[in-house]
Amino acid sequence: MARSQGPWSVAARKLLPAMRGWRESFHEEPELANQEHKTREKVVRALRELGLTPTVYPDFTGVLATIGPDRPGPVVALRADMDALPVEEKTGLPFRSKVPGRMHACGHDVHMSCLLGAATLLVRAGPRVKGPVRLLFQPAEEQGEAGGAGPFVERGCLESPKVDFVVGQHVAPEVPAGQIGWKKGPLMAAADRFRIVVRGSGGHAAYPHRGPDAVVAAAEIIVGMQAIVSRARDPVDPVVVSVGMVHGGTRHNILPPEVELEGTVRTFRPETRDAIERLLRTRVRHIAQSLGASARVEYFRGYPVLVNSPPVTERLVGILGEEFGDAQLEELTAPVMGAEDFSRYLEHVPGSFLKLGAGVPGPPANLHSPTFAPPEESLVVGAAALAAAAVGLQER
Ligand code: NI
Repeated sequence: MARSQGPWSVAARKLLPAMRGWRESFHEEPELANQEHKTREKVVRALRELGLTPTVYPDFTGVLATIGPDRPGPVVALRADMDALPVEEKTGLPFRSKVPGRMHACGHDVHMSCLLGAATLLVRAGPRVKGPVRLLFQPAEEQGEAGGAGPFVERGCLESPKVDFVVGQHVAPEVPAGQIGWKKGPLMAAADRFRIVVRGSGGHAAYPHRGPDAVVAAAEIIVGMQAIVSRARDPVDPVVVSVGMVHGGTRHNILPPEVELEGTVRTFRPETRDAIERLLRTRVRHIAQSLGASARVEYFRGYPVLVNSPPVTERLVGILGEEFGDAQLEELTAPVMGAEDFSRYLEHVPGSFLKLGAGVPGPPANLHSPTFAPPEESLVVGAAALAAAAVGLQER
């Protein structure tokens, strides 16, 4: 693994014991979306120890702090997400989760530790930091359409002083540890959710001719929705429609009166998003009707497309290239169908979302898997990258 050489990286490496401590503490006590109370306490304590004055909220578990609020230079916001997942940990790490069925399986423990590390570096850098640096510890990234970024923006996290640039990062097992992935333009998809309730008559499974069968109608709907993706849309415009939940029935010989389906839609273009919603609503109803059943479709808009500002990303590539060497930067060629509510900040402020390398030799452990365990090198690179980005973007 190539060692990073820039001044921020050297300082971040010296900070590794502290970052390790934060990470292990977050990791041992994972909390689900909007329940990050202990996590918030730990963040607040660490920020106060740096001499900062964190803002907390009565009805929201996010934490906001600003380094050098009165400095004249441009305002850079750095964001880390805070929530864990309902996953039973199987890493075998000495600091594994102490909470049954809860795990930091998406690396948000690492994101928070990197941001606390960057905050430490920036506080110590004193007047070298020319403008305010806003620290955003955001809850509930995993919460779907109710994610934490929207409420944070509504609470003014990009105001007073008005934020000029926003930078965030996410650990990425597909990028080798020590490297940083970047991409201009669209990086992650818009994510919507749908819920479909299919209604039949219900009755004895031995007499299916006596009324419409919600189970068969639901099956036709599941298959029929895939024809929206494969036959009603341009194949070079990526779309995903996935059904993740199917619920219905109580016994093998009873046809249930109702079957409920829930799933996700991923798109990149606003017109595609609209078209899929429209097609889904009409096709699903038509398929159900063709079988004598009926269907009610609810469609919920979630996170928008995450679009990295091309000029800000170009500047960041220059800044990070100087810090880490160009060989440590990897341009990501294709967007992914995953989603991130960092996109909500980018709707208001130009910025860029980076992929923080977390790949290690051996069989890959995916995000959200019970064995996902980013290496410590990610802490060093992540903290140095955020600090370098903040100071670099403040240079005029
Ligand atoms: Ni995540």
